[in-house]
Amino acid sequence: MKITKKKIYEKYKKRQPIVCLTSYTEPIAKIADKFADIILVGDSVGPVLYGYNSTKEVNMQLMINHAVAVSKSVKKSFVVIDMPFGTYEKSKSKALKNAKIILSNSGADAVKLEGGEKISENVKYLTSNNITVIGHLGMQPQSLDGNYKVFGRSREEKKQIIKDLKYLEDSGVMAIVLECTIKSLVKEVLRIAKVPIIGIGATVECDGQILVAEDLLGLSEFKSKFLKKYSNLRKIVSNSFFKFSEDVKNRKYPKRKHYYE
Ligand code: KIV
Repeated sequence: MKITKKKIYEKYKKRQPIVCLTSYTEPIAKIADKFADIILVGDSVGPVLYGYNSTKEVNMQLMINHAVAVSKSVKKSFVVIDMPFGTYEKSKSKALKNAKIILSNSGADAVKLEGGEKISENVKYLTSNNITVIGHLGMQPQSLDGNYKVFGRSREEKKQIIKDLKYLEDSGVMAIVLECTIKSLVKEVLRIAKVPIIGIGATVECDGQILVAEDLLGLSEFKSKFLKKYSNLRKIVSNSFFKFSEDVKNRKYPKRKHYYE
């Protein structure tokens, strides 16, 4: 049965952790769907699959293409798509127009946007037009050009996150991703938050956790203190390619059983 916004809130109210994973492709989405409450088609697709220097380089069409592949493959999970950099910040009418294009062409259930106070009017306009929005605070990759760093150590950053949190809640977001920030600040955010806080590099106390699938699988080269690699797919893939290349060079593949007679 499809996981709805309501079901996610029920989990949150019961303090049951919300499991979130990213997916950009059909094979990963089909597996993630068995375990995730929320699947995010993240703009991390740019750096992870295309080798872009930052998430800023992805565009609407690229996000839609991947979200279509994911939405078609998912039976159960709630699907969220990142709105690309430059598509929602400048004006509320542009944000709504682009959110409608992205959602109607991708089949996703909600959009995710980075930022707080500065984009809150646009977020409010989206939610008042029945668009489900997830916020993203803490480290915001779209503003960093690939130079990722822990966010929230300074007084100004701390104050700003708390302010941003309130702005986003007042704008009607469904949940907030909180990325790469320090324990004391996470604690304060969780103390005052009225919506689920999904952590990535933001302690085990969050209402849910998200990781980029290729990172946790050990397929990407991304390194971070917060990342736990649950597999070493680079090694597995490399081993398989090595064996294939040896078989080809030694004429050991294909064998008779692989022939068409
Ligand atoms: O783009 C993405 O994959 C994300 C997650 C890291 C939360 O925003």
